[in-house]
Amino acid sequence: MRLGRPVYSCSGGARLPLLQPDALVTDRVRAGLERAGVFAVYVDDAVSEGITPTEPISPELRDRAVRELGSTFTSISANGRSTRIHGEQIERLGGVVSALLRELRQSGHMVSALMDLQSFDAHTLGHSLNVCVLGLMLGDEALRRHGWTDGRGNVRRDGIDSRLEKLGLGLLLHDVGKLLIPAEILQKPGRLTDDEMDIVREHPQAGLDLIEEGAFSSLSRVAVIGHHERLDGKGYPHGRGEDLHVHAQIAGIADVYDAVSSMRVYQARRPTHEAWELVLSLAGTAFPLDLVRIFKHTVAPYPEGVAVQLSDGRRGLVSRVRREHINRPTIRVTHDPDGAPVTAYEFELADAWDVVISDTLQDLDGPPDAPPDRTAAVSDERHEQQLASITG
Ligand SMILES: [Fe+2]
Repeated sequence: MRLGRPVYSCSGGARLPLLQPDALVTDRVRAGLERAGVFAVYVDDAVSEGITPTEPISPELRDRAVRELGSTFTSISANGRSTRIHGEQIERLGGVVSALLRELRQSGHMVSALMDLQSFDAHTLGHSLNVCVLGLMLGDEALRRHGWTDGRGNVRRDGIDSRLEKLGLGLLLHDVGKLLIPAEILQKPGRLTDDEMDIVREHPQAGLDLIEEGAFSSLSRVAVIGHHERLDGKGYPHGRGEDLHVHAQIAGIADVYDAVSSMRVYQARRPTHEAWELVLSLAGTAFPLDLVRIFKHTVAPYPEGVAVQLSDGRRGLVSRVRREHINRPTIRVTHDPDGAPVTAYEFELADAWDVVISDTLQDLDGPPDAPPDRTAAVSDERHEQQLASITG
């Protein structure tokens, strides 16, 4: 197999290419990538020809965002609690958020490609950017549909861009408090003790404490402090669901989706559609129905390039995702129901309501995906605890 896209690693705020496109993926390279935390790559072969996953933002903007955010994160890691994120830095990050919003609007508001196939040693950086991208998309749609309610209870539609920029800043910095949590706790493979959980639960407030007084709007603050709160009151740090600000709800959805779909030390690998289904299952309890509905029409559960099994037994690659039928993409069928290879042809899942995607496949010729790979490094208990704290 040859690599279809470069693989990056992110270290100290710099995004470094680990492998170039066209690199040969041998078993040894594959094992090395897995050790580096890379759980999926794009490959180029005859079958996948012409399938180009559409990324929500350009690589140039991703680089710029990683650079700006990386320098903020590096200073927090170096100086701990005494760090202050100053107004100037916030302004630079605000510039990144505006650029993100511009690009997202041009790209038509859909997350289809796996947003982050890179290996991040500081995973919070990639996570923060993904949460920001997804949250801005949800926020833009929600504000355009429903407007916002002012202090007097009036629904308004003015100043949407400025509200979204403040939301985006909160999303970029929602997890900075995590940089203060000792690595022994954050990466502990086993179950956390109550005391350790208390430390983890402090990170929203600890993050806000790092930001210079007056540099951050209250519309950004609510996203940081409330991203682990849930509508049903089962979240933290306050455990109060009523009057939860819409920015906190958006941050919560984006955070859960990216946390569950990314691979973590304590998590088994989970295909993106599982994270998508998890968010849908939390509608009406942890998250409001209207926002989950917007999520459902914004994020593609099966991105382009993913190998799938259909309910009639055929296999193929997702070749095109369209926003109108985001969970019923075009499939490039490669195998008939008996598993025999066929000359590839395109099949519109949107026109065939009696066929569904029944599974994702690691390998078109291999057996269906095994249940999550829970190796020694991955503790079931820690994973369950993490999932419970995510879902409330
Ligand atoms: Fe968090």
